[in-house]
Amino acid sequence: MMGPTVSACTLGVLHWQPMTDAREHYALRPVRSPQEWRAYHAIRRAAIFAALLPGQTYDDRHPDEHAPDNRPHVLLRDGEVVGTVRIDLIDATQAGLRLIGIRPDLQRQGLGAVLLELAEQAVRGFGRTDVIINAHPTSLAFYLANGYAEGDWPDKGPVPPTLIRVGKRL
Ligand SMILES: CC(C)(COP(=O)(O)OP(=O)(O)OC[C@H]1O[C@@H](n2cnc3c(N)ncnc32)[C@H](O)[C@@H]1OP(=O)(O)O)[C@@H](O)C(=O)NCCC(=O)NCCS
Repeated sequence: MMGPTVSACTLGVLHWQPMTDAREHYALRPVRSPQEWRAYHAIRRAAIFAALLPGQTYDDRHPDEHAPDNRPHVLLRDGEVVGTVRIDLIDATQAGLRLIGIRPDLQRQGLGAVLLELAEQAVRGFGRTDVIINAHPTSLAFYLANGYAEGDWPDKGPVPPTLIRVGKRL
């Protein structure tokens, strides 16, 4: 049976098309327009901060968003922003996927798996081989189902309290 195809094209945009449904068309790429930045922050606010971190205030001007080795990305479905991930280049081999979020009304439909697959392709494109995620406990099963494993994966800092570090060697 044929699986999904992932192909890279020019401009660093990665596309994913399930063979079973050619109408669906996904792309993961860096955030570009003011409209995409608004959607990026809105998804993170709703899916992560409001839902999982009610005591923490979301700062859309946080310096980590603009650090040179940190690359905010959006997942687009037919041109519409449906998910977010920031790809942080930690060192020569490691990349961190930060604040992964799927628009709340679109969760549990397979978009998270598409986002991970495309983010891993992007990590390979950046020349890194290991992916690190500090997972919220409610999403641990999702990462384990997508090939991630708990462990002592190296990151810039210690595992934040209440989170669980998972990783994957590509
Ligand atoms: C976690 C998240 C990114 C997953 O994306 P998604 O599109 O919902 O996930 P998918 O549909 O690709 O995969 C869902 C599958 O993962 C597994 N899974 C287990 N626990 C899960 C959970 N809490 N959330 C999502 N999937 C979970 C299940 O196998 C599930 O399949 P099912 O719906 O048939 O039971 C998304 O739900 C989300 O944004 N959640 C809120 C924010 C968050 O937790 N971010 C991660 C912080 S580290």
